[in-house]
Amino acid sequence: MKFKEKLQESLKGTIPKDLLKKLPSGYSVIGEIAVFRHLNPKISAYKRTIGEHLISIDPQVKIVVEQLDTVSSYRKPVIEHVAGEKRTQTIHKEFNTIFNIDLVMVTFSSGNKNERNHLVQTVSDNEVICDMFACIGNLSLPIVVNKPSVRIYGVEWNQRAFDFLKQNIEANKVDERYFPIYGDNRKSTPKNFATRVLMGYFDIDCNQFRCALEAIENQGWIHYHSIAPRGNLEQPQEIIEQARNESGYKIEVKEIRQIKKYSPRLNHLCSDIFVEKY
Ligand SMILES: C[S@@+](CC[C@H](N)C(=O)[O-])C[C@H]1O[C@@H](n2cnc3c(N)ncnc32)[C@H](O)[C@@H]1O
Repeated sequence: MKFKEKLQESLKGTIPKDLLKKLPSGYSVIGEIAVFRHLNPKISAYKRTIGEHLISIDPQVKIVVEQLDTVSSYRKPVIEHVAGEKRTQTIHKEFNTIFNIDLVMVTFSSGNKNERNHLVQTVSDNEVICDMFACIGNLSLPIVVNKPSVRIYGVEWNQRAFDFLKQNIEANKVDERYFPIYGDNRKSTPKNFATRVLMGYFDIDCNQFRCALEAIENQGWIHYHSIAPRGNLEQPQEIIEQARNESGYKIEVKEIRQIKKYSPRLNHLCSDIFVEKY
């Protein structure tokens, strides 16, 4: 039985009949915390009941929160407590990787799990990777943990996210191969060293794409994330055109993949771009 059907069955008689169809169809779990997104405002009076019920049926869940939004260029989540203990710090484990995280400080998308796995499977031995939007190591830590010959340079400008990144590098014992860099990636991205650049952010500007190109040594991949209306596999045409004209490098979009549904009308995409400099 699907989660929504189970919830409807259990809460029959507890919440009005006409609201049963407004119950959430799913949730994500980060460590011990279950996260609801976009709960229907009509069921807000019953959120706590729903949260407490979830804690009683899912042994992994000790806390339930609702994520209302993410704000600013730090992508800081807006979180509301729903049920259980009142804390937002947890330890999440995925692909042999330990993530210490505080859900009110930084984003960690469960919807990107397939992409984390895809990267672990795609990266070859001895690669050198630049994660320009490292956060707490969301995309790059599983690679360095699962690929013992790979080195990573991760750039992050949010002090709190950067502190968690350093903590996670230590927790995963990869400090000899993961080098965290604190700062704005437009100024702090190293040059001419990488086989692959991760750009896991939605408001990438020309300057940042230029830095990604400069980070590549001779040839390599850029994984460029974006959001686009459903059904539209849009590539970052303008930014690529401009960079191609300015640099003279060969820049080719080899594939555009859907990472997840971002909202009822938008998809999260990743363009896999191959760059040859000489
Ligand atoms: C949405 S999170 C994404 C984390 C991860 N890349 C992913 O895709 O799951 C974006 C991170 O990029 C950081 N960020 C945004 N602009 C930046 C910049 N100019 N320089 C360095 N970090 C930046 C934010 O602070 C945030 O931690």
